[in-house]
Amino acid sequence: MSETKRTKIAQVLKHHAESGIGNTINIKGWVRTKRGNKNVAFIAVNDGSSINSIQVVADLANFSEEVMKLVTTGSCISVNGILVESPGSGQAVEIHAKEIEVYGTADAETYPLQKKGHTLEFLREIAHLRPRTNTFGAVLRIRHHVAFAIHKYFNDRGFYYLHTPIITGSDAEGAGAMFHVTTLDLNNIPKTAEGEVDFKEDFFGKSTNLTVSGQLEGELGAMALSEIYTFGPTFRAENSNTPRHLAEFWMIEPEMAFYDITDNMDLAEDFVKYIIRHVLDHCYDDLEFLQKMYDNELISRLNFVIENNFERLSYTRAIEILTASKQKFEFPVAWGIDLQAEHERYLVEQHFKKPVILTDYPKDIKAFYMKQNDDGKTVRAMDVLFPRIGEIIGGSQREENYEKLKARIAELGIPEKDMWWYLETRKFGTAPHSGFGLGFERMILFVTGMANIRDVIPFPRTPQNAEF
Ligand code: 4AD
Ligand code: MG
Repeated sequence: MSETKRTKIAQVLKHHAESGIGNTINIKGWVRTKRGNKNVAFIAVNDGSSINSIQVVADLANFSEEVMKLVTTGSCISVNGILVESPGSGQAVEIHAKEIEVYGTADAETYPLQKKGHTLEFLREIAHLRPRTNTFGAVLRIRHHVAFAIHKYFNDRGFYYLHTPIITGSDAEGAGAMFHVTTLDLNNIPKTAEGEVDFKEDFFGKSTNLTVSGQLEGELGAMALSEIYTFGPTFRAENSNTPRHLAEFWMIEPEMAFYDITDNMDLAEDFVKYIIRHVLDHCYDDLEFLQKMYDNELISRLNFVIENNFERLSYTRAIEILTASKQKFEFPVAWGIDLQAEHERYLVEQHFKKPVILTDYPKDIKAFYMKQNDDGKTVRAMDVLFPRIGEIIGGSQREENYEKLKARIAELGIPEKDMWWYLETRKFGTAPHSGFGLGFERMILFVTGMANIRDVIPFPRTPQNAEF
């Protein structure tokens, strides 16, 4: 085949005037559909650069039957052809093929995506191929744009990206189980004289796990650089089989010196609105596709969230509202309970009808590091609750007082020897500071309108599932 520089299909479709009607161009990609008659074939080719495929028109008089037989749904081809204005509706331009090279065939009998209309459940079983569907192409492009927007948001505001460790010896949240990291021989575990696992023999000489949050190390960064953020994978071995939980997910955790809880809420609200605006500005074709397929209120919901102030109220006030509602909840409401998704969604979807930020939660249901309020019962926590999702952000002002933090650690039975470095930040130049964690996949759920978190990450890890 003659040498022509490849043009991405998105480029061809967007800038066809520049690509040049009448010019010979090259495109490469995977065949989505092929139809036609005995004279001509219409081949839709997609290279992932856009939700839209380009139509390749092949005059069968110019191609051998042998080659055309190999051009089937799922095959990968390279096409040289002339860009022309399309007479058909549905596309502005098409390519009149001069040469076609088949890079890879896809047997029609066995290619799992031969037919359209597979369920999302089935697609999860073929996560190695599902990026080739329109749905996952759209989700993965949006995922990329959100990640990029997050880095841009913080970079533009002078926050530094801090790489916190994935393997740690600490338990940041003190909630839920952790994945151990070890090189010990599981069939021959060394024991101490007391009969316990002898982690001195282990790789790090101590017990280690995959991180549940980069926050504690993030705080160390903020106590030097003022404003930092982390963006990394996070692991929780909780056995929660829900549409909103993964065992491996990504979290963004900004941490800011000199911010109080109000500054923290202002940042969180501005940040999520920025992400949504970025997606509306950069991913409109994909949003329209997802709206048509899965969620007919998607775009209006996104616009609604950026146009309205989030409702801010205390946990205590929220409990009063839930109690006063005549709603039947599966989990009964009382001051002190950990709010369930049903409670959060009632507040957001039924009562306020907009995103809500709850503050000042009971200290017993929140992590040890949160700033203690004077009432002795609550801490300066803040959770951001979204329609359809429930909790999307969890954060707080941090306890910067050395004595109070030390007492709380002791009260909860957290070994001080594991926390000495964290406590030292309060001993040497402590400062008021705050931060929060945004669940990346929960944000992607919200902006794509997808219903299950397994469908917004390329390779989901959930209980009993780590294929691919
Ligand atoms: O509320 P969480 O547990 O807060 C923290 O980890 C703090 N260290 C954050 C901070 O202050 N720096 O988790 C933060 C967010 C949740 O609001 C939720 O969006 C998401 O992380 N998240 C999960 N997402 C998917 N699967 C799971 N199992 C999740 N657990 C939490
Ligand atoms: Mg939380």
